[in-house]
Amino acid sequence: RTVAVILAGGVGVRVGLGIPKQLIKIAGKAIVEHTLEAIENNSHIDEIIIMMNADSIHELDHLQKSGQFSKLTRILPGGETRNATTRLALAALPDEECKVLFHDAVRPFIDDRIIDDCVRALDSYDAVDTAIRSADTIIQVDDDGCISDMPDRSVLRRGQTPQAFKISTIRRAYEIATEDPEFKATDDCGVIFKYLPDIKIYVVEGTGENMKVTEPIDIHIADKIFQLQSKSLSSESSEVPNLAGKTVVVFGGSYG
Ligand code: CTP
Repeated sequence: RTVAVILAGGVGVRVGLGIPKQLIKIAGKAIVEHTLEAIENNSHIDEIIIMMNADSIHELDHLQKSGQFSKLTRILPGGETRNATTRLALAALPDEECKVLFHDAVRPFIDDRIIDDCVRALDSYDAVDTAIRSADTIIQVDDDGCISDMPDRSVLRRGQTPQAFKISTIRRAYEIATEDPEFKATDDCGVIFKYLPDIKIYVVEGTGENMKVTEPIDIHIADKIFQLQSKSLSSESSEVPNLAGKTVVVFGGSYG
């Protein structure tokens, strides 16, 4: 059995629109609804739970009422931090062993290939992360704002979600974390990495599109990606133009 948990407990301070960013409408629907749709349509997923910002939870009432999402069983209030939200989700899930995927509500471009790879990887591993290579050089800085290290870019990855686990493993990690007064983590693989260091965390390849809507500019980028995806869907059956050797015009500039 595989359960997907959509983490939507945040407020979106950095986007700063006065509503939780997962409720912002792009391409006609709230971002969280696009995310839900993508996960609902994946054949590996049996059940979906949304952990929603408690103050805005009523904004999602229509999702269950619509009858469109047969796998969506519960919409529950999230916690103060992302990790607190994960904890609440774990407490709400039954005791039996299952596969559980945690996905950020604000990554609406999750696709079947990523979900399939995460679920399959759990046949061999207890914990799975999703990540992509970094086009930028990643540097480490010290307290005076100067470079203290320049790790080799080829071994670095940028973490995304889903992060997927055998539920007993992520539960065990959070139980140990509870004992730690210094507990601090930004995601769930980080909790495994810190408190269950013997567990191997397999890394599935993410995509550039699987971006996290974080800053105001990301709303425009996400909108553009939706436009491009709907264009490519509507032209799927038609012949793909061969651009080789042609000049491609982008935003008024050109190269080719
Ligand atoms: N999240 C959550 N519970 C929290 C905080 C975050 O479920 N208490 C979720 C967010 O809703 C989001 C994902 O975790 O889908 C990634 O977090 P982030 O981008 O940091 O979201 P926010 O906390 O909403 O953003 P900000 O830090 O700008 O307020």
